[in-house]
Amino acid sequence: MTHADIDFGQLYREHMAAAGGREKPPEEWDARAETMGRMSGESRYVNDFIGRMDLSGCATLLDVGCGTGAIALALAPRLQKVYGLDYSQGMLDVMTRNAAALGLDHVAPLRRAWEDDWTDVPVCDIVTASRSTTVMDMADALAKLDAKATKRVYLTSLVGGRFIDADVAELLGRTRPALPDYIYIVNILYRMGRYPRLDYIENANRLAGTQDFEEFARKAAFTFGEIDAAGRARLRQWYDADPERARRGGAPFHWAFISWETTP
Ligand SMILES: C[S@@+](CC[C@H](N)C(=O)[O-])C[C@H]1O[C@@H](n2cnc3c(N)ncnc32)[C@H](O)[C@@H]1O
Repeated sequence: MTHADIDFGQLYREHMAAAGGREKPPEEWDARAETMGRMSGESRYVNDFIGRMDLSGCATLLDVGCGTGAIALALAPRLQKVYGLDYSQGMLDVMTRNAAALGLDHVAPLRRAWEDDWTDVPVCDIVTASRSTTVMDMADALAKLDAKATKRVYLTSLVGGRFIDADVAELLGRTRPALPDYIYIVNILYRMGRYPRLDYIENANRLAGTQDFEEFARKAAFTFGEIDAAGRARLRQWYDADPERARRGGAPFHWAFISWETTP
């Protein structure tokens, strides 16, 4: 057997199903719209993302899973027309409000899901999908991104399939199977005849930046839900074993940054 015998799109779907991946209803994202974009380390991620882009010869952008517009609004001043696509009306409302506050009148919201028909979604020079690629069918999603870009596509995807330090999750007994990660994307694009470029963006772990154990325990509870006394004791042990590591929240988290040209 060689890699040419592997249908990576099928393998991704099977991995996602085995990991218990599910389509979240848009209402779950609506509920997060007001607090999104206020996360610490946010502007560094955005700078790391857009700093890796080439906008030469480009006037239009389609930002898929745009959320409150972190990427779309940062790029809009350099472009003539920007579309923010998302299935959450709450996200689109916040993006539209933010665009107006910035005096950007060429940013249009587009309510659509990855899974919908995209026939009437506008074709743009550049297509982005930042932190929004946890889809059930990656081959379909990549074909859609590719079809809507006349020049280049940029996206970020999980490395390692987890958002949280696996050791911390394990000592709290909250392990979940890892989700399929970026390596499927590279392989699917290869099979599509594209030449994906690969880079990484390092992000602080979600549990990073605390000053003492109490604050760390509070952050952990926010992420994992209520922690019982035994779990708290194990967490304390982990914290005390290496307070410096604990202040970093454990292992750093990486996004894979993948880009490709859609014109030869
Ligand atoms: C983590 S946020 C990322 C937002 C933004 N791109 C950023 O980097 O800040 C993920 C976004 O994807 C959207 N999303 C999730 N599943 C989706 C789907 N099936 N179709 C369309 N959008 C979806 C959510 O509503 C949310 O706005």
